[in-house]
Amino acid sequence: MKNRIWLGFILVLVFSACRKDPKDPLTNQGGTKYVPTVIDPTTIFPVSKFGLPNLPSDNPFTEEGIYLGRMLFYDPILSFDSTVSCGSCHRQENAFADPVKYSNGIYGLKTGRNSSSLINLAYSKKFFWDARQTTLRDQVFEPIQAHNEMAMTLPLLSKRLAKAKRYVEYFDKAFGAEPNVFDMSKAMEQFLLSIVSQNSLFNDFFPGRFSLLNDGQQRGALLFNGLVNFDVPTGLTTGADCFHCHGGALAQQNNPDMGGIANNGLDGSFSDKGYGAITNNPMDRGLFKTPTLLNIALTGPYMHDGRFTTLDQVIDHYSDNMNFQSPTISPMLTAHSSRQLLLSTKQKADLKAYLLTMTDTVFIKNPAYSNPFKK
Ligand code: HEC
Ligand code: HEC
Repeated sequence: MKNRIWLGFILVLVFSACRKDPKDPLTNQGGTKYVPTVIDPTTIFPVSKFGLPNLPSDNPFTEEGIYLGRMLFYDPILSFDSTVSCGSCHRQENAFADPVKYSNGIYGLKTGRNSSSLINLAYSKKFFWDARQTTLRDQVFEPIQAHNEMAMTLPLLSKRLAKAKRYVEYFDKAFGAEPNVFDMSKAMEQFLLSIVSQNSLFNDFFPGRFSLLNDGQQRGALLFNGLVNFDVPTGLTTGADCFHCHGGALAQQNNPDMGGIANNGLDGSFSDKGYGAITNNPMDRGLFKTPTLLNIALTGPYMHDGRFTTLDQVIDHYSDNMNFQSPTISPMLTAHSSRQLLLSTKQKADLKAYLLTMTDTVFIKNPAYSNPFKK
């Protein structure tokens, strides 16, 4: 009798240890091989608004993979002295940009360019201001090893990850492997690809529901999406032609001939050669990746070097200060007889009102992208 009670007790213990709570990804499944939960990309991407992006075929989204990538993104142990994480320079409240001109990396060092916002990257084909990377999987190794960002070495990082219980567990769940930097980059790729912003007023109206906008926003939309054309009696342009480079639902370069990079007439000579330093072609000097304008109100300072602190300054640049002497300036900007647009004060306000419709306040609070270590 006594033995039977003990046996029953032990069985209960064994069963409760094996029981798995499907909502808790951390639950151990009792020694059987863990099968990660695959996620259908159509549940991640707003297909009707943006279409389905081209995704890497060898790295399907899984709940565990995305979560692992998210932990790594926010974990300072990826930097040599464990003080800097990806999230230090890419802040969710700023649409994953950094609200300073140059970001603070390790040992008080600064980055050489303004931090990029990280949204809808699945729809981008090239990464960094100079478009030097073509996959996010490769991209992540750059900041990790850059001396002024995280200054980490990959052997040391592998060792650190292998020592952390949470990583031993999650690498096993996501990839059936011990912590290693190859799968690390795949997990981060999954997380970065999964960051989607699509809830702004702009994304609700674009392109068909014009009536959602108020009068000023509507006038701004006409300027943004109109070709440059100077009206004879007023001398004012009826369009400012932003859409050729920041067009479509993603408010990003949609002219495939330009490859998503352009010189938007900032400088006559280039202290930062941008894409030209990658290709060594003088015709590419001063060309930079055309950023999305979604969440633009949150991602300042603006341009690759963060030279403008406000959207008003950006609009003044396009309206009044275009450098037509810039040797590689986009033909898109010289199409209008190299004449400054000279928007009126009211037109500038309208254009700004339109840019402000691109802010997605749901996105910046979405818990799926927040720091998992801060509960
Ligand atoms: C010290 C600040 C800093 C840290 C840390 C940092 N970044 Fe960045 N990030 C930047 C800056 C600055 C740029 C723009 C650099 C350039 O274009 O040359 C950038 C650009 C990027 C881009 C390109 C986006 C685009 O649209 O082209 C991605 C993706 C990115 N970072 C992801 C990460 C990830 C992942 C990590 C962590 C492994 C990370 N960053 C860590 C500052 C940082
Ligand atoms: C020929 C293509 C082109 C056109 C046309 C164009 N832009 Fe840009 N835009 C760019 C490029 C390229 C950059 C990044 C330049 C850099 O950093 O050196 C940029 C940057 C910006 C930025 C800063 C983004 C950031 O994240 O820092 C804003 C805002 C902007 N443009 C708004 C506009 C507006 C408004 C118009 C119309 C008046 C316009 N652009 C027309 C190519 C263009």
